Parts: sequence; structure tokens; C-alpha cells
Amino acid sequence: MRTTAMAEKDTTGFGHGKVILLGEHAVVYGHPALAAGIRAGVRAHVSPGSGNLSAPGWELDVGIGDDSLPGQAVHNLCAALRVDGHTLDIWLESEIPARAGLGSSAAMAVAVARAIGARTDATEADVLAGATAAEMVFHRTPSGIDAAAASRGRLGTFTKQGGWTDVPLPKSFDLCIGISGEPHDTGALVSGVATLRASTPVADKLIHAMGELALAGTEALSNGDVPALARLFGMAHGLLAAVGVSTPVLDDMVHTARAAGALGAKLTGAGGGGAVIAIAGDRADEVLRKWRGKGYYGFLTTVGHD
Ligand code: MEV
Repeated sequence: MRTTAMAEKDTTGFGHGKVILLGEHAVVYGHPALAAGIRAGVRAHVSPGSGNLSAPGWELDVGIGDDSLPGQAVHNLCAALRVDGHTLDIWLESEIPARAGLGSSAAMAVAVARAIGARTDATEADVLAGATAAEMVFHRTPSGIDAAAASRGRLGTFTKQGGWTDVPLPKSFDLCIGISGEPHDTGALVSGVATLRASTPVADKLIHAMGELALAGTEALSNGDVPALARLFGMAHGLLAAVGVSTPVLDDMVHTARAAGALGAKLTGAGGGGAVIAIAGDRADEVLRKWRGKGYYGFLTTVGHD
């Protein structure tokens, strides 16, 4: 491998966690999705070393290029950036849980690609290519939305053909994020939907409708109509459940949020566990309290924070 000359200094990079507001799974089939990078994310610290990759918060301690998924992912990322990973140590500080539907793998990939990119003067396009190489190890056929949101850190729409477009928000709004505690495998959930679509062609109409909801949500937010977005959440959750990616726990979290006064709630990301989101206005504390009462960890984030 031809490697790029590197600075000897320590470098850092940050990748945002993400929430998909509308259009997850549909985005895999070319439909639009609406997503936001959140404030919390992953910071990577890169220094000269011998190929160690560790993230104490995720109990991760592997070698770059070993047969673990993160080891393989970072190896491919380094190859895309033409850097020899065995000459680096990478330490990750994470503010988001792993495999919880908040884009931890993409946030990690963007953070590491940025930190390595800072050593080699990589462009933003190189960084995204490096992050995508890592995401392909984790999720096999990623649409690219997670890496795009992790690098942008703001609200936007995404399509596979057109990439990311920022959506200006007239006014920021609060979003409750609830963590189910059920880990999930995005690649397996995406294949499950593909199998359903092949065996039951009418499922494609539901997937198409999810993309329509993402367009409607984008219009609602462009007009500052957050309650309209919340109403779309309920419809989207129903469609996601219909294609088999919800779970009894996610359904319970959605119903608990609605019972606590949320205007709308849905699973976010691949499903099969992971996270839910709820728009609750002045009932947000009550939603978090009710989730906590049932043993679900939740927190509040602001969309449109900058
Ligand atoms: C995962 O965050 C979002 C999915 O649509 C998969 C993807 O877009 O790659 C389920």
C-alpha cells in the first residue's frame, strides 16, 4: 500500500450521533429521508502507536486490522485514506451508546477519519470516503445517511442519488430520545426488509409511503410546523412496524411517550431495538420520567442547535 506522509502530532476529530426523523429503510431504496446530526457524538484521538483501537465507554479494546468488526472497519478506513493503521493508536471518547440506533458506528467512522485526515491534510470528500469504507464493514450496504448526518451535525434531507441537503429551520425544537437497551444489527434489519419486499411486493408501497412522509416532514419543518412533524411520526411508526422492524419494547416506549403527552413518537434508525424519538413540547420532562419509571434511559436534545 502506498501510504501518505503523516504528521507526528496527536490529532482529534469529532463525529455527531444522528436521529432519523423520517424515511429510515425507505432511504435504502432511493426514497428521501429526513435526519439530524445531534450534539452528542464520538471524539477520536489519534497518536503515533502500534495499531490499538480502544473505546473504554463501549468496553472496546481491539487491534486495527484484527478480525473484530471495529478493527476491520478502521483498517478499511485507513486504507481508503492511504494510511498504515498499524502505526497509529486510536482512543475514542463516546457520548452515545453503541448499537442503539443513534449512528454510533458512523459517528466513530467520521471522528476517526477526521482525526486521521487532520494528519494528512485530507479533504472533506476523503474523510467521507474513509467513513463510508468503515460503515460498509458494519452495515454491509449503508445508504450513506448515517455518515452524512455524522459529518454535517445538523438537519437535512438525504437521498442515495443526491446525498445530503441542509434544511434551514426557522426555529429549533426539542426531541426526546429514549434508548430501549435492546442492541440491534442494522445490516440484518435491512436484509429483513429486503426479504419482505421480495416475497410480498405490496410492502414496496409502504416503503414508498415512508419516503412521502419524509417529504411531508421536510415541508412541515421548513414552515416551522413542529406539531405537523409529530403527527407524521405516528404514521411512520405504524409503517415501520408493518414492515417488521419494531419490537414490543419500542412499541411500549412509543405508547408510553404518547400517554405522557407527547404529540408524536416513533422508532428511529433501523429498529429491532435501538432508540425511539418523541416530540413532546412542554411534556418532555414527563415523557423522560415515564420512560425512566419503566427502566428506559432517555435524554433531551435540540434539533437546530446552531
Ligand atoms: C440506519 O440508521 C438507517 C437505515 O435506513 C439503513 C441505511 O440507510 O443504511 C435503516
